[in-house]
Amino acid sequence: MLGLARAAALALLATATTTTTTLALPQITRKGKYLYDPSGTRFYIKGIAYQPQGRLSESSQANAENGNFPEPSSYIDPLSSPANCTRDLPYLQQLGVNALRVYSVNPELDHSECMKTFNDNGIYILLDVSLPLNGSIDRASPTWSTNLLDAYISTIDTFLPYDNILAFNIGNEVINLPTNTDAAPFVKAAARDIKAYLRSRGSSALVGYSSVDGDRDFRDPLANYLTCGNDTISLDLYGLNNYEWCGASTYADSGWETIVNDFGGLGVAAYMSEYGCITNPPRLWQEVPVLYSQPTTNVFSGGIAFSYFPTNDGYGMVTFGGSDGQQVETSQDFTRLASQLSNITTGPNIPSESSATVTDGACPTAENSTFQASETLPPTPDEAVCSCLYRTSFSCVVAEVTANKPDIVGALTDYACSLLGSSNATASCDPIAGNGTTGIYGPLSYCSPSVKLSYVFSAYYESQNRRADACDFAGNATILRNPPNTAQDASDAANACLAEDPAGGVFTPSGTAPSTVSATGTGTQTSAAAATSSGATSGALPQVGLREGWAVGVGMVAVVLGGMAVLV
Ligand SMILES: *[C@@H]1O[C@H](CO)[C@@H](O)[C@H](O)[C@H]1NC(C)=O
Ligand SMILES: *[C@@H]1O[C@H](CO)[C@@H](O)[C@H](O)[C@H]1NC(C)=O
Ligand SMILES: *[C@@H]1O[C@H](CO)[C@@H](O)[C@H](O)[C@H]1NC(C)=O
Ligand SMILES: *[C@@H]1O[C@H](CO)[C@@H](O)[C@H](O)[C@H]1NC(C)=O
Ligand SMILES: *[C@@H]1O[C@H](CO)[C@@H](O)[C@H](O)[C@H]1NC(C)=O
Ligand SMILES: *[C@@H]1O[C@H](CO)[C@@H](O)[C@H](O)[C@H]1NC(C)=O
Ligand SMILES: *[C@@H]1O[C@H](CO)[C@@H](O)[C@H](O)[C@H]1NC(C)=O
Ligand SMILES: *[C@@H]1O[C@H](CO)[C@@H](O)[C@H](O)[C@H]1NC(C)=O
Repeated sequence: MLGLARAAALALLATATTTTTTLALPQITRKGKYLYDPSGTRFYIKGIAYQPQGRLSESSQANAENGNFPEPSSYIDPLSSPANCTRDLPYLQQLGVNALRVYSVNPELDHSECMKTFNDNGIYILLDVSLPLNGSIDRASPTWSTNLLDAYISTIDTFLPYDNILAFNIGNEVINLPTNTDAAPFVKAAARDIKAYLRSRGSSALVGYSSVDGDRDFRDPLANYLTCGNDTISLDLYGLNNYEWCGASTYADSGWETIVNDFGGLGVAAYMSEYGCITNPPRLWQEVPVLYSQPTTNVFSGGIAFSYFPTNDGYGMVTFGGSDGQQVETSQDFTRLASQLSNITTGPNIPSESSATVTDGACPTAENSTFQASETLPPTPDEAVCSCLYRTSFSCVVAEVTANKPDIVGALTDYACSLLGSSNATASCDPIAGNGTTGIYGPLSYCSPSVKLSYVFSAYYESQNRRADACDFAGNATILRNPPNTAQDASDAANACLAEDPAGGVFTPSGTAPSTVSATGTGTQTSAAAATSSGATSGALPQVGLREGWAVGVGMVAVVLGGMAVLV
């Protein structure tokens, strides 16, 4: 029978295929505060940071809590060079690591060979989905917006096929001071939406965040905040970038004892997402055995030593030589870390999976001077609403040449808002603003920066009765050819768009075309080009009244472009 013959042929093919591929790494899942492999054994992250340093920005935020490690303004995608991954593998094996933390990748490149190399050698990837500059939640002016959601989903879609993805990290040190804890609701909303997206794609990858360390007044309520509540809104994995154990120290003297006690009430898994202080050299790595034994393991599930690649300030553990940069030279630091790490086979299997309990962590009780994050989270960014606004209600929009210049868009938004504020306009910039302290989020606050700017341009242009020179901004603004007939029509159209937003404002993002998930982790990649275009190039600005109580009933903000204010 044809059917049987085909089945036999397929079976043969399957056998042939399995002999040439290796097994997928087992999926790691979380139960309450701990991670487990499929056999029910506790899983510990034994990792190293694997990210070549990009250029350092002039305004890089070096800070003492973070070992003065400054932030790069560009990046090199370390999972895009098969030759480099193959070059590094033997050294990663000498270290005995089972995980790499990778900070910045380009979803448009091919990662299949590096991912396979690491998968085949038992190495998981903790992947940060944000990027330097405009690719992450801005700590000075935080929003959770369509362009970021699109960018994160594009990276996630690219990596979903790989079985050795342990976690997607939705941010690194976004909140870095007691004075910008108002960014925390945006981070938590990002985690909520990305989690929902992953589950909708059948992925059980963990969702994490890496926090800067700091005073207990700041560090502890932030950790509580981001991990509290049920599985729908809590992170899965809380990373602490910790540089407190310097040189020869002890559990008590290093401050680790305090952290373990302070984090004891977290409802989710925690790990040291960076460790390896350099201020009291040489690094002895005596914290390694402490990290993988009780009582640390009652709270932490391992950590990531910082850093494999050279940095400009002494954290790196290898250097590269030879004309092609393919010769690896290891440092004493490397050798000491390797002897410590490779001596760790695992941590204690306590508690067993069956006796691990699931308890939602408690949220901080109130806002105060060192903790200013509202429990009301911003809504899910809704691209349909933003593009509807752009299409139907704007009259003056950001010129295409300006739309992909994030710094100019930011400066022009401030400027145009100041013009609007001092004009006779009925509209204001409130609809584009979001405030993580009050929990009041304008109905356009989740739109991309260029949609928000187009809103302000349109509102100003309407307030000036569509004088041509009110839509110019030195060539940064363009009059739309078919604007709404009147300013009132523009406001009506805007509010019709906003009425389309789902009640409560929270929903599962649909992302782009589903990717093909392969069982071996080396399957077909969805083209990154299939990702939706960045919100930065879409979206006109409608006249929208401020609508209060946008997300969860906190205050109304009516959206107005001109004419009468309309409460939506
Ligand atoms: C603010 O409240 C948190 C708990 O919600 C607490 O940990 C922190 O110490 C408080 N800060 C001050 C300055 O009291
Ligand atoms: C989880 O918490 C959210 C926010 O507090 C709540 O709206 C939701 O109903 C809860 N879900 C479950 C399954 O308990
Ligand atoms: C590969 O390694 C070389 C030599 O160290 C380096 O110059 C290059 O940037 C690396 N490329 C990637 C994509 O990591
Ligand atoms: C390796 O681990 C064992 C047991 O955990 C310990 O007794 C030994 O001292 C460790 N060796 C080194 C070099 O740290
Ligand atoms: C960042 O800006 C670049 C243009 O400089 C743009 O192409 C990209 O889409 C922006 N990314 C996000 C997440 O907005
Ligand atoms: C948010 O609101 C608080 C309280 O009204 C205010 O102090 C703070 O400046 C606002 N933040 C932003 C970013 O507007
Ligand atoms: C607002 O002021 C501008 C310039 O001062 C004027 O041209 C315009 O007619 C005024 N708009 C309204 C709606 O009164
Ligand atoms: C846009 O605005 C920027 C900053 O204000 C200015 O430098 C530039 O000349 C303007 N025009 C264009 C076409 O970029």
